[in-house]
This record gives sequence, structure tokens and C-alpha cells, in this order.
Amino acid sequence: MKTLILAGGKGTRLWPLSRELMPKQFIKVFSNKSLFQKTVERALIFSKPKEIFVVTNKEYRFRVLDDLNEIGVNIPEENILLEPVGKNTLPAIYWGLKVIDESFGDSIVAVLPSDHAIDVNENYIEAFKKAEKLAENYLVTFGIKPTKPHTGYGYIKPGEKISNLGFLVDEFKEKPDLETAKRYVENGYYWNSGMFMFRTTLFMEEARKHAPDVVKAFEEGKTIEEAYELAPEISVDYGIMEKTDKAAVVPLNTYWNDLGSFDAVYEALQKDENGNAVEVRGFKAKYINVDSKNNLILTERLTATVGVEDLIIVDTGDALLVAKKGETQKVKEVYKKLKEEN
Ligand code: GDD
Ligand code: MG
Repeated sequence: MKTLILAGGKGTRLWPLSRELMPKQFIKVFSNKSLFQKTVERALIFSKPKEIFVVTNKEYRFRVLDDLNEIGVNIPEENILLEPVGKNTLPAIYWGLKVIDESFGDSIVAVLPSDHAIDVNENYIEAFKKAEKLAENYLVTFGIKPTKPHTGYGYIKPGEKISNLGFLVDEFKEKPDLETAKRYVENGYYWNSGMFMFRTTLFMEEARKHAPDVVKAFEEGKTIEEAYELAPEISVDYGIMEKTDKAAVVPLNTYWNDLGSFDAVYEALQKDENGNAVEVRGFKAKYINVDSKNNLILTERLTATVGVEDLIIVDTGDALLVAKKGETQKVKEVYKKLKEEN
């Protein structure tokens, strides 16, 4: 199978860790490798380097090349597709699949976001093998069992079984409101993992039906600049997955964390005996704790907390974020305000 990695998002809810030129997929705070590098390593389980494609913003070209270089993976440079401007995931995926189809003919492609923490285990491998089979006839999603009514995800209602491979999708709903999400969780819906398995010609056929304006933007004879000027800004979830009747879901039972906010980052990191998740980087950096519990502390300098609980403290040397745990979805507002002021 081929792999298409999406690496053009901004990750504004992780400010000040993620910045204009350093979005979350390239940050190394979660381990000694970036999320993008880990995604490339997952891609290599099923694809050779020349079968791996990356769609990213042209501003991140050097980040991608440096990251690949660092892990010694030789993806041909023509496989790195550079968008002049981000138009969300549908144009990115459509362009990527079109290029793959033109280079290799009709192909099955795993589409991987590059902003997740995922455990690769037997279940992961099995789910991908099942998805590869299902992708002949379906647009395949991977379903994660929800743990709470999160409103930042897509929800999938599984329908009829398709042999032992997965289920038809009865309903796909992107980012519902809280009440709806609660109902979905109670009624056995899955979270959409954000990963997909598509056959190029089937996906393009569904795009012609449900997103003709996207297809039109990428028509023969147009430059990529022109295509991106014309393309609407829309995600694959709203543009295709909510509308198609050809979706299937393969349940995926593994550790999965979208790391979409500092609350999710706190959950993903190891905690000490006081429930603090602490990452200290830099020569003089150190963390001193006096009676503080259940905080996330990411710092690049000498930092101390006294008697505080449930705080998110992120200090990158030139910027400081202090937020209440549970409220970190709103960090993207900081980013917006900063943009407005500049
Ligand atoms: N090339 C490119 N261009 N990549 C993009 C763009 C773009 O304009 N916008 C986003 N991406 C990349 C991001 O970097 C990320 O790796 C991936 O596409 C998904 O985009 P997000 O913006 O992070 O989507 P989301 O998290 O809000 O929602 C998606 O993922 C959820 C799971 O994490 C949806 O698929 C949901 O249904 C799903 O539950
Ligand atoms: Mg995401």
C-alpha cells in the first residue's frame, strides 16, 4: 500500500509550543522524535520510502526535509507536495491521491495525520490489513472507542457487519455539539481516528459526487497555485465522509491520543507521584515543586510552583502560558488574538 502523510496543519491550541513556523507535528517535546518522524516510521511498516507521499505547506518544506534526514529516511523529493496555502484536509488529500494515481495507477493509500500519538501493536497491524482489503470497495475509517463526549472529533455509527473485516458506516458526524456527543457515546458510536484507507479512483469518484468544486480546482491544465486559489477550504470529514454512502469502519483497539490540546498532552505524559507531568529542557532548566499537584509543567528555565493544582504551565523562554486544566481548548484564542494584533 502507499501512504499519504498530512503535515500541513497549524496546531494553534498548543501555543506557545507550536508557532507559526513550528506546528505541533514537528515538535519534539513528547519524546526525542517529532510526531511527524513517528508518523513516517509508522508509514514504513506498510510502504517503501518511494511509496510515501507528504502533503504540507511550502513554509514547512525544510522542517520536513530535516526531520526525514534526521531519521535517515529517503523519501524522493517529488513526493513532498507543497501547498501554497492551507485549505484544510480535503484539497490536501485530493491532490495527494491524484498524484499517487498518476504515478502508480489505481492504488490503495493509507492517509495518516501527523499529529497523533499512537501505539503500534498487533491490533494496529491487523486493523490496517483489514482496512486494506475493505478499501477495494469502501472509503475506510478507523474507529476508536470513545472515553468521553469530546466535541473535537468525528463520530461514526457502525452498521451492518462486512464479513470479519469491519462495519458499514450508518452515520458519520463531524464535531457534534456536547449534547449530541453524549448521546453518541451512550449509543456505541466510535470516534473517527483521523486516519483513512482510500483507493484512489474510488475516492476521486466520490469527490466528483460530493465535492465537485474541489475536483474542478485540480482539473487538467491548472497550476497548483491556481488550484489552491480556487479550492474551497474544507475538511475531508465534512466534504466527503459525512456525505458518502460508501464508508466503512474498522475498529482500532490501541492507545490513541490526538494531542489536540494541553489537556490531551497531560494525559499522554507520564506523571510523578503527585500527578504532575513535567518536562524540563535546556541547560539551566529545573523544576522545583512545593505541594503542587496534578499540573502540566513544560519549561525551559528554572521554574517553581507552590501549592497549585490543575494548572498548565508552558514556558518556552520567550513566551509563557498559564491555563486552567480543562480549559485548554481555548488556547487557540490566544493565537487568534496575537494574529489580530500583528
Ligand atoms: N497538508 C495539509 N493541509 N494538512 C493539513 C491541513 C492543510 O490545510 N489542515 C490540517 N492538516 C493536517 C494536520 O496537520 C493533521 O495532521 C491532519 O491534517 C488533521 O487535521 P486537524 O486539523 O488536526 O483535524 P482535527 O483533529 O480537527 O479533526 C480530524 O481528526 C480527528 C481525530 O484527531 C477529523 O478527521 C476528525 O473526524 C477526527 O476525529
Ligand atoms: Mg488533529
